[in-house]
Amino acid sequence: MGGESRRRDRRARDVQARPEQARSGSHVATATYLVSSGARGRGVGRAMVRHCLDRAAGAGYRGIQFNAVVATNVYAVALYEDLGFSVTGRIPGGFRHPEHGFVDLLIMYCDLIGYRDL
Ligand SMILES: CC(C)(COP(=O)(O)OP(=O)(O)OC[C@H]1O[C@@H](n2cnc3c(N)ncnc32)[C@H](O)[C@@H]1OP(=O)(O)O)[C@@H](O)C(=O)NCCC(=O)NCCS
Repeated sequence: MGGESRRRDRRARDVQARPEQARSGSHVATATYLVSSGARGRGVGRAMVRHCLDRAAGAGYRGIQFNAVVATNVYAVALYEDLGFSVTGRIPGGFRHPEHGFVDLLIMYCDLIGYRDL
């Protein structure tokens, strides 16, 4: 791997859409994203999520679910809502935040039926 690739790897990481559940739940995908704090706010996260939605829809998933979006991560929540996700569940105090203490975890879902037609 070249130096530029290694640098890119340190700035952003995404896990491509994968089934959230086995067998009868395998038509719903999940994924995780992380952009290093020094590289945020430059469009990397939006590009990764859009790419993931395209790939998941193209692979035939009917929806995509994020299981643990920290409610205080307002940029992440706003980004996902802008890209078609909605909050479908909330775990009160589900995350022990190093600064804010126990904060809620959100479950967010994006319906991909019809996404292929966009
Ligand atoms: C969520 C996350 C992946 C977004 O990555 P990112 O590269 O910062 O995303 P973008 O640069 O595309 O920014 C997304 C939006 O947030 C805004 N934003 C992000 N950081 C910002 C900041 N520090 N100040 C102001 N706005 C900010 C951007 O302006 C952008 O809004 P816009 O597209 O309407 O202009 C990143 O914040 C992250 O890794 N967070 C920690 C891990 C996490 O919470 N992952 C999600 C759990 S599934």
